[in-house]
Amino acid sequence: MKHLAKRITGTSKKSFGMYGRAAAMTGRDLIHMELGRPHADTPDHIKEATIAAIRAGKVHYSNLPGELHLRQALKEKLARQNAMEVTTDQIIVTNGLTHASYAAIMAFIDDGDEAILLEPYYPQHIGKIELAGGKVVMAPLGEDFRIDPALIAPKITARTKMIVLINPCNPTGRVYSREELQGLADLAIKHDLLVIADEVYKDILFDGAKHISIATLPGMAERTVSMFAFTKSYAMDGWRIGYMTAPDWAIPALLKITANDVTHVNTFIQEGALAAITGDPAVLAGLIAEDREKRDIVVTRLNQMAGVTCAWPEGTIYAFPSIKGTGLGSQIVAERLLDETGVVVEAGSFYGAAGEGHLRVCFGSLSTPHITEAMDRMQRFFGAL
Ligand SMILES: Cc1ncc(COP(=O)(O)O)c(C=O)c1O
Repeated sequence: MKHLAKRITGTSKKSFGMYGRAAAMTGRDLIHMELGRPHADTPDHIKEATIAAIRAGKVHYSNLPGELHLRQALKEKLARQNAMEVTTDQIIVTNGLTHASYAAIMAFIDDGDEAILLEPYYPQHIGKIELAGGKVVMAPLGEDFRIDPALIAPKITARTKMIVLINPCNPTGRVYSREELQGLADLAIKHDLLVIADEVYKDILFDGAKHISIATLPGMAERTVSMFAFTKSYAMDGWRIGYMTAPDWAIPALLKITANDVTHVNTFIQEGALAAITGDPAVLAGLIAEDREKRDIVVTRLNQMAGVTCAWPEGTIYAFPSIKGTGLGSQIVAERLLDETGVVVEAGSFYGAAGEGHLRVCFGSLSTPHITEAMDRMQRFFGAL
């Protein structure tokens, strides 16, 4: 394929894991718990505001970083909920979190630069780092998937440019404590590294867990790009809208990428996003309460299965049970679950070697009756192993 750019041929092929395998099966009664797609429909007031914006003629080009009134509302929300003090000029509205992280990686990674991912990791960030010419370096999370600076420090070299942090964490469901984040911040400051903070699950918290943006720790605002999206919290995955905050020095670089790749986010979609964050907070609380109920069913049931133990996720829409008690590898178990029961979950090894011995089970993507059916099938499967 002589016409293809080296950035395509020289980078690893994206794997779709168990999703790819399940998609190739037709005519089977599958229950999908492998994809991180919200089950709820987008709330009506968000749809109505978007339709009204189209009717009102908000169909033309607008501001490159995003509509000013949306950025103003985001600034107030970030101050209120994340104790994050930024100006509207420090906010860029993006096509989902994927676009924000793409822009940040393109803006800062040069050929041969290294980006550290904490393992188990969210695989999508790898492709972007490679497309930018960078090298992905894995640093394992510690016991109980906590951030352990002693495991990260040996991975830092003269070429390390950034650490990618996912908090709350996909796939583990952990929400990092201030002490853990401080350990990471100390390393970033000591070695003059950037932190790319993927906080796409920041609203989905359980049992009083508190999400802390690493950018709010002393000395971190000037080296952190914090990234958020409407995707998971407001069931807006297909809308493709998110936002990022960055220090003033980084904004022109980030805008250089976003202005060149998408110009700006769809004008009328931004009105839907505004309605999401300015609307009745009970709507968001209701969506999260649904996730919590489903989490409770899934984790309770997983812990009743032979050879399975599952920690309680503090946030996100994922449970990450250990299947070490079965003595089998995670890929084998995920494949056998699919083949023998039709329940699709992802193997922990899909998220790196540190995820081996686990499965990622998404409880956010199904209705409660489907979840119960999936748990029944899984319980029979593990009981019969
Ligand atoms: C950790 C993480 N970051 C980013 C994304 C993608 O977000 P978006 O759809 O807003 O681009 C996901 C989706 O699953 C995710 O889990």
